[in-house]
Formats: sequence, C-alpha cells, structure tokens
Amino acid sequence: MNSPETYYRDHWVTIEPERLEAYEQMFRWRPEMEPLIAPAEIASGHVVLDYGCGPGWLAIEIAQRVGAAGHVYGVDVNADFLARAAEHASAQGVGDRMTFHRALDERIPLSDASVEWVITKNVLEYVSDLHATLLELRRVLRPGGRLHVVDSDWGMLAVEPLGAAAIAELFAAASIAYRTPLIGRKLFGALRAAGFADVRVQILASADTRGHFVPIVTNMAAYARASGRLPSETIDRLLGALDVALKEGTYLLVLPQFLVTGTA
Ligand SMILES: C[S@@+](CC[C@H](N)C(=O)[O-])C[C@H]1O[C@@H](n2cnc3c(N)ncnc32)[C@H](O)[C@@H]1O
Repeated sequence: MNSPETYYRDHWVTIEPERLEAYEQMFRWRPEMEPLIAPAEIASGHVVLDYGCGPGWLAIEIAQRVGAAGHVYGVDVNADFLARAAEHASAQGVGDRMTFHRALDERIPLSDASVEWVITKNVLEYVSDLHATLLELRRVLRPGGRLHVVDSDWGMLAVEPLGAAAIAELFAAASIAYRTPLIGRKLFGALRAAGFADVRVQILASADTRGHFVPIVTNMAAYARASGRLPSETIDRLLGALDVALKEGTYLLVLPQFLVTGTA
C-alpha cells in the first residue's frame, strides 16, 4: 500500500485491472438511479460538468439528455477511466458532444462561468481539499448555475445482521480510503462556506435486501485489508457472515445518499 495518509487519493489514481473491471459494472447507469440526479434539472442544450466521471456512464446518460446542442465535460483523476469513458461515449454515439479532462488536483481545466450544471456523484468524499474544490466548481459555473452533489455518509451505513459494532470496526479500518468519510452531513455547511446560495438538502435511503449493494461491503473490506488495521480473520468472518445472511435471506443494507444542490 502507498502511504495511509494519501491512500484516499492513490487508490483512485492507480486502479488495478481487476478493480477497474468491477467499477465498470458498479458505476453503470441504471434507471433506478434517476431519483439521485433528478434535482439536477438537466435539459436540452445545457452545458454540464460531471466531476469525477469514472468510466463515464452517468456522463453519457447526461449527454443523451442535453442533446446535440448541449455539451458534457467529464473530469476525473484516473487516466484509465477517462480513456474508457471516451470509448464508451463514441460507442454510444455521443462522443462529439463530450470532452474528457484529467485533473490531478482541485484545478479544473475549464474557463470561468462555462457550464450551467455541475454534477458530482460519490466523489467529494475523496478530494484532498473540499473547500478549494467547491470554490473551483463554483468558478466554472455561470452565475445562477447549479451544483448538484450526491454523496454517502459512511457513519450512517447499516448492514444487518452484521450489527453496528462490527460495521463500525470495519469502517474505522476502511476509513483510510476516504478523505471526508462523513461528508453527507457536512455538505450543507461546506456549500454555504464556499458561497453557494439556495442550498437544498434531501436524503434518499432505500433498503437493499437482494444483495445489489454487497459490493459496498466487499469494497470496504478490501480497504480495511489494505489498511492493515483489522486482522484478516476478522474481515473473513464478517464476509462469511454476510454470505450466510444472503443465503438465509436475512441480509439488509442501508446507506443514505445526501443530495445537495446549490446556486453559484
Ligand atoms: C465512487 S467513484 C464515482 C464515479 C461516478 N461519479 C459514479 O457515480 O458512477 C469516485 C470517482 O471519483 C474520482 N476521483 C477521486 N478523487 C478525485 C479527484 N480528486 N478529482 C477528480 N476525480 C476524483 C475517481 O477516480 C472515481 O472515478
């Protein structure tokens, strides 16, 4: 592992092929994700930035909505994601209305006041300097343009029947993977401090009982393992209990998503 102090960033800058493949599937756009982006009222002709676009699936969905008159910029810290995103965009026939840029720090290679919407989904928990990033997102928005943030709050994760103590222990070890793991509850104040007006907060929480969100736990387990802060046997025992719960039909996972929107 790289340094624990910078792991939250390093594990996105360099992604092993196996994890890259897993993310391709995890981050695919699915219609049931609609409520997460609904507060961003994307319309035909809009110019939108998807900050932390990963392999591009959400950005491509937005590109379809803005139509040929609009444009979508995708920005990410990982070069492989950006290459894949550009390939997917061409394959989906929207490559001509999308531009991808790599950003290695909070600076975004776009001019002042150049976009109408910024969407950033499950990204701000990883940025080194949340305030500087929010100021930069505000800089690229046109006056009156809107920022829409979707993020988790890892302190609110519940996985049954594993129990709160076991999840808290796993989270404590895995937290090296996040710069601001409790970001959900902090977004309102952070957007206000960065000068956004009309900041609105909604929380969406659904209970997964079918196992769709199991990768959330396996991902956390991988981070906990990388941290070396939790014995391997403890992590194996937790994952074993998760398997049993799935088989016995007693598994339930809730991870609330904060949807926070503000005006530049
Ligand atoms: C959990 S993924 C979410 C991907 C995508 N937004 C989605 O919801 O499908 C986090 C993404 O943020 C990117 N990321 C992490 N730190 C970043 C930073 N400092 N600047 C830009 N992108 C970053 C990662 O490379 C990754 O693509």
